[in-house]
Amino acid sequence: MCGIVGYVGKQKKAQEVLLEGLTNLEYRGYDSAGIAYVTNGKLVITKTEGKINNLKKIVIPCEANLGIGHTRWATNGKPNTINSHPHKQGKITIVHNGIIDNYAEIKEQLQKDGVTFKSETDTEVIAALLNQIYTKTQDINKSIVEFQKKVKGAYALGIIVDDDYNTLYAIRNESPLIVALGNDENYIASDVPAIIKYTNKYIELNNGDFAKITDSQIICYNALGKEIKKDIQEFPIESYDIDKHGYEHIMLKEIHEQPTVIKNTIGDYIDNNIDNLIAKMPDFSKYNKIIIVACGSAMHAGLVGKNMIEEFADIPVDVEIASEFRYKKVFIDNKTLVIGVSQSGETADTLKAIVKAKEKGADTLGIISKKGSSIARCVDFVLYTNSGIEVAVATTKAYSAQIALLSLIALNIANHKHNIDNKELEKILKSIKELPIQIERLLSNEACENYKNIAETLYTHNDIFFIGRGVDYALCMEGSLKLKEISYIHSEAYPAGELKHGTISLIEPGTPVVGVITDFEIADKTLSNIEETKSRGSENYLIITEELDNQYSKINKNYNTYNKVVIPNTHKLLQPLLAVVPLQMIAYETARFKGEEIDKPRNLAKSVTVE
Ligand code: G6P
Repeated sequence: MCGIVGYVGKQKKAQEVLLEGLTNLEYRGYDSAGIAYVTNGKLVITKTEGKINNLKKIVIPCEANLGIGHTRWATNGKPNTINSHPHKQGKITIVHNGIIDNYAEIKEQLQKDGVTFKSETDTEVIAALLNQIYTKTQDINKSIVEFQKKVKGAYALGIIVDDDYNTLYAIRNESPLIVALGNDENYIASDVPAIIKYTNKYIELNNGDFAKITDSQIICYNALGKEIKKDIQEFPIESYDIDKHGYEHIMLKEIHEQPTVIKNTIGDYIDNNIDNLIAKMPDFSKYNKIIIVACGSAMHAGLVGKNMIEEFADIPVDVEIASEFRYKKVFIDNKTLVIGVSQSGETADTLKAIVKAKEKGADTLGIISKKGSSIARCVDFVLYTNSGIEVAVATTKAYSAQIALLSLIALNIANHKHNIDNKELEKILKSIKELPIQIERLLSNEACENYKNIAETLYTHNDIFFIGRGVDYALCMEGSLKLKEISYIHSEAYPAGELKHGTISLIEPGTPVVGVITDFEIADKTLSNIEETKSRGSENYLIITEELDNQYSKINKNYNTYNKVVIPNTHKLLQPLLAVVPLQMIAYETARFKGEEIDKPRNLAKSVTVE
């Protein structure tokens, strides 16, 4: 959450590095943004409400060799200019990611000491605290050690001290922060995209560590202020592409990347041969129970995975919302595998849930997109999706890649347990090969026209329902979330059979109900539930497989009156990878009809590093 970038060096113009870095970090939050830089021996702070483009318009270009920048996702205080970072108190200027838990107490004490505050933020409070300590000690290292003893919470900080405009300071506790190395120039960043254009060499700060950074030197210290040696590491250079490549939105581009993403992600592990899958993954069949911890869409991917693993691998799977898991009683032993699913690999709730699972003695596995991310480093074993960096805030291709990997885990276990015979396996391998072309069909011009027609009706409504059973219900949850995230239309996903036990009271003439029916065994039941809503006047849309469509078209006259999206048949294990595409496209087109800012929806951030 929030993004930090900092630069010190004479090779580049600090303002340009900061603005470019912030643009690449904007997925972390975009309520407001600001930079502080030193020019002609003076510190200048420029900040404003809204996106980085607003900031770019007001920054006055000049020569600067040192600076820090921030893009914000508001935690304490409204997203306005005053609350945006950097914050300056006395000689200390700070940008901050994270939340200070005890800021209210610290603020009260500082106010008693006569300090006044302009903003509502916890960041200005800690800037004042560090300034107060520094005023007494006149030694910044000692001050940081003292400061860290007083501050509780998560923080990554970039700091400029007025007495030394050639040095940047960075402090890290819980929130991610790296120091990146250039030639006669150095950087700090909360996340790789900020600096990957310039360098892939970095030093990782651990909790409590801080660093003193000039253009030619980086000195790292632990929380006690003792100098420590750090290894220089290298990030794999992944391209961070924010170009729309002719698509109207990045989200649309990423939806269209799914045929390749699925091919690459599955290809990395299976390569048309089950033996590869067995070789590239541990034997997960030794576990009695699996718990999937994740947030948002990743949690929805977990729900799809639960259905796949339980059905094909015969192992019970619980899916826990990571922020709930962390604070509840959990039932884990050394025969439990805890899987953290996360695109960014930085989600604080998921990371903390994994830490708890490890403490309780579980083996942990990460399904992660971002290489080298915090969760990837924390788990015992990682399976990376090959989905590339996802830029649009509402996830599409990373979600699909997560489901693809979960289907491979189900297949891995099923194979180890001899739950599937060779014939079945052949069918699955053949279906995997066909998937990219089938997804392309779902994204053909003709198919997209259908999504547009559906969206043209949906966008005028205030409440929309998505219903399905089993794995189709899990897909409905994602379809509903996608719609909420980008179109701001209220929607609910409901298990189709449960609707009649209360929520059906909300269905009135004209209420849109989207039914997802891909599971052959329960299709009749779901269709009956959809007909129950139709009897009450709902406007219905079906996402249904070709096979079921053929069957119902022949036998059920009523059926032919539904608006439909017919999806290709594939093996049951893989069906969710196709069914989700229309759901994504309907959400996208609905938001487009409403004219919303699709790639950066209000109040959201791509990487949520606060609890
Ligand atoms: C945020 C994003 C969601 C995402 C969730 C989990 O809330 O807006 O789209 O699903 O975080 O993110 P992760 O990076 O852990 O997959």
